[in-house]
Amino acid sequence: MENTEKKKVILSGIQPSGAFTLGNYVGAIKNWAKLQDDYSCLYMIADMHAITVRQDPAKLRRNTLEAYAAIVACGVDPENSVAFIQSHVPTHGMLNWLLACNTQFGELSRMTQFKDKSAKHADDVNAGLFTYPVLMAADILAYNADLVPVGVDQKQHLELTRDIAQRFNQRYGELFTLPDGYIPPQGAKIMSLSDPTKKMSKSDENQNSCVYILDDKDTIIRKFKRAVTDSDSCVKYAEGKDGINNLITIYSVVTGKSVEDVEREFDGKGYGDFKLAVGEAVADHLAPVREKFNDLMKNKDYLVSCYKRGDETAFKISSRIVSKAYHKAGFVDR
Ligand code: TYM
Repeated sequence: MENTEKKKVILSGIQPSGAFTLGNYVGAIKNWAKLQDDYSCLYMIADMHAITVRQDPAKLRRNTLEAYAAIVACGVDPENSVAFIQSHVPTHGMLNWLLACNTQFGELSRMTQFKDKSAKHADDVNAGLFTYPVLMAADILAYNADLVPVGVDQKQHLELTRDIAQRFNQRYGELFTLPDGYIPPQGAKIMSLSDPTKKMSKSDENQNSCVYILDDKDTIIRKFKRAVTDSDSCVKYAEGKDGINNLITIYSVVTGKSVEDVEREFDGKGYGDFKLAVGEAVADHLAPVREKFNDLMKNKDYLVSCYKRGDETAFKISSRIVSKAYHKAGFVDR
């Protein structure tokens, strides 16, 4: 990373809890790649967050390496950004405890993602699931990140991060930067293809609801052809047309065309033609990602060397900030 002092700092993360969806790509990772020339970027695989729901250990290890390869395949450049694995950088856990002692039970109880996830995993409402947003705050504050590129579902966690940072600064003296979200104007919430009132999610049991970034062309086209829309036939962005709005957004993001241009392009054409065009455009857009991912997975030594370098740099940067936080909180210096 060059000019670390001059550039603003970005941090973001993604859980290795399965194959990445088009939602993860459009809402977050696509922007990670775009931002790395103008900012000092840190991107991490949030494996510690992933174990808040039950994971098979061997599968988690495999998913973590694949997730790392996937972010690189999507354009994160480990030479230019600090790309690392969360559990390899112990400062995150260290700061997590300090911040947990400065976060209220009531604040965490209000997190909608906790409510959703605890309902979904009622047999395992563990303490980590509850305190998950504190670890996310530690991830961000350990680097004094200015900007956090995420999809809209992470907005509440980001607001909590700001509250925790502000409280810490008031109690112990100025240390933490209050981070802003970088939520893309378009595609911050890609919806499920089978139920467009719901977010597209990795954990959805219905495979047709999600397009995965590593799906092959035929699969992607088939999923878009089956996408649930309405009984109208006019390709126009309008209130109440969740399915079509979602497809227009996706098409617009992957082709770079404005919504108006998309509407003009499909004026007089039906939903069938449009769904096929969206499927083809997404498949073409993702083809190089899939190819690069397959190449990277053939060269695991390269991936290991990249994350080791990223881990070390991340540890160096965060150690400085976390040591200051420990000092301010009254721990005796080591
Ligand atoms: P995760 O792994 O659930 O999702 C990774 C990113 O993808 C975005 N996203 C979406 N965006 C648009 N449409 C969708 N359907 C969609 N689904 C997911 C998410 O908003 C996210 O940006 N807690 C985080 C990981 C994390 C993190 C962090 C993020 C851990 N520490 C620090 C930022 C900063 C999470 O579970 O993301």
